[in-house]
Amino acid sequence: MSNNLLAGKKGIITGALDENSIAWKVALKAKEQGAKFVLTNAPVALRMGGIQELAKECNTEVIPADATSVDDITKLYTESKEILGGNFDFLLHSIGMSPNVRKGKAYNDLNYDWLQKTYDISAVSFHKMMQTADKMDIMNQYGSILGLSYIAAQRTYPFYNDMADAKALLESIARSYGYHFGKRKNVRVNTISQSPTPTTAGSGISGFDSFYNFAEKMSPLGNATAEECADYIIMMFSDFTKKVTMQNLFHDGGYSFTGISEELIEEMK
Ligand code: NAI
Repeated sequence: MSNNLLAGKKGIITGALDENSIAWKVALKAKEQGAKFVLTNAPVALRMGGIQELAKECNTEVIPADATSVDDITKLYTESKEILGGNFDFLLHSIGMSPNVRKGKAYNDLNYDWLQKTYDISAVSFHKMMQTADKMDIMNQYGSILGLSYIAAQRTYPFYNDMADAKALLESIARSYGYHFGKRKNVRVNTISQSPTPTTAGSGISGFDSFYNFAEKMSPLGNATAEECADYIIMMFSDFTKKVTMQNLFHDGGYSFTGISEELIEEMK
């Protein structure tokens, strides 16, 4: 169903790894809503190949970029501007990775070199994407920039490990850069705090199935799917949300504001 919500808009979509990725769904929906965009992912992720099929389907190109490298981001923006024929209206940061999570290091036994990598990949890269866009003056007036977060930024979920601290930093960067980008260019910056979602990044967290089921039972509307997250992202990129900025927006079926649900009480009996 297209309402051409993004007609004439141009942007960058990071993080589409496979068809489960939230960014993958965003790309399909952005295309459907009339946007033009370039896809990007880390060079190592491109070897998996799927993203080229997505690019074909979206009639666009893939430019490899490691989001921790300012040089890569600069090259990505320069080439994308050429391909798209102008500056950007939206940027999606849909990137997360923790070597500590991946290698099974517990929160009370972290490898600090890996912790730096977690922060750099999952949070500081958001700052790098914005600062580079800012310096290159490559965002259009009333553009929209989004990152993806998780409620472990506010409350303790022991299994979420050092990603919890990375998400807290990501949300803080959105607030801080939101001020500067708002003042200078009327560009809005937000994070969307999404339900647990069965993707590569999501299911890499230990105990994912249990907390997915727990969240499903806790949320009055049930967990938000990747597809529904993509719908929200499209709305945030559209002109209907021009004055929403510096927010962490919960997209979780009501999970974050539910104390306990009847289903869970029933299970405790
Ligand atoms: P995904 O695994 O499909 O996407 C993560 C992406 O990050 C991958 O495409 C990966 O290649 C990319 N990436 C990793 N290192 C990179 C680097 N150095 N440079 C550029 N790209 C890099 O998983 P998903 O779930 O779609 O993740 C997207 C975002 O949503 C992440 O920020 C994640 O933390 C967040 N999120 C996911 C939830 C879930 O349960 N799946 C819940 C809440 C937020």
